[in-house]
Amino acid sequence: MELSVQLAPKHKPGLLLANPVMTAAGTFGYGTEYSHLFDIQKLGAIVCKGTTLEPRQGNPQPRLAETAGGLLNSIGLQNIGVKALIKEKAPIWAKWPVPVIVNIAGETIDDYAQLAGKLDGVAGIRAIEVNISCPNVKAGGAEFGAEPDSAARVVAAVKAATSLPVLVKLTPNTSAITKVAVAVAEAGADAISLINTLKGMAIDTTRRRPLLGSTTGGLSGPAIKPVALYMVYEVAGAVEAPVIGCGGIATTSDAIAFIMAGASAVQVGTASFTHPRAPLDVLEGIEQFMKKEGINNLTELIGAAR
Ligand SMILES: Cc1cc2nc3c(=O)[nH]c(=O)nc-3n(C[C@H](O)[C@H](O)[C@H](O)COP(=O)(O)O)c2cc1C
Repeated sequence: MELSVQLAPKHKPGLLLANPVMTAAGTFGYGTEYSHLFDIQKLGAIVCKGTTLEPRQGNPQPRLAETAGGLLNSIGLQNIGVKALIKEKAPIWAKWPVPVIVNIAGETIDDYAQLAGKLDGVAGIRAIEVNISCPNVKAGGAEFGAEPDSAARVVAAVKAATSLPVLVKLTPNTSAITKVAVAVAEAGADAISLINTLKGMAIDTTRRRPLLGSTTGGLSGPAIKPVALYMVYEVAGAVEAPVIGCGGIATTSDAIAFIMAGASAVQVGTASFTHPRAPLDVLEGIEQFMKKEGINNLTELIGAAR
């Protein structure tokens, strides 16, 4: 049975995954936190926590709120910063067979370019995933990924600064997701992952205040799956670059639905909080499904519902 997927077909040496199941940024730490719970080396790839130039403390508490079928978070990109990541985490990853992809975030285009430059050539780092759901501080705080032009400028700057494969992670908080996808593909994205969280909020009615310390947060989990599936379907029909589906994937059938919609790979996020082994269960379920259906190559399933 052939489960491998090439996520950067136009890149040399590319980004070949042994299978299509990845973890989603910010929900699987640096991988090390989960390695005692199951054999994480069996996964297709691990995407680490969003990383910034400087260490960040994140947003004020509370930063998590459960919702019907979902989770609101306002972590605010708490992370150790790129310097510590290169010094402390990359040497561990360099010994792992599973490829590790570093998710990056910035407040200016130059932040992204600097991050990409620092990660280039570091042993243990196999690709970059660019989180464009961040506020563009110089342009008044709108998300970089909300508009095709600003999204493409980030991607072009990252591509110019690194020889690593570049995945671009789209935000659903836009009225133009397909246009943004086409623009980032033209700017050189090797693959496109989607979706990030949907903007939302909760109110603590006892205190008569917003529940989250930073007022708004990002919605994830099963509640967003139909939205994510629709966006993956649209984007996969508009770009040639491989698409990676993410958003509410908790079971094998969720993952297969995204693959049938056109995703070459999937990311499991919030599901890992309630069930840390979820990514491996999803992978094993895909193998069983292919066996049962007599499918020899995963590529037969990609876009099968289109
Ligand atoms: C607590 C938390 C932290 C996250 N941090 C990041 C991050 O640092 N960078 C990023 O691109 N996405 C981040 N995300 C978004 C997830 O990677 C994913 O796109 C989103 O949660 C939808 O998938 P899910 O429903 O499977 O969780 C975060 C999500 C959660 C719940």
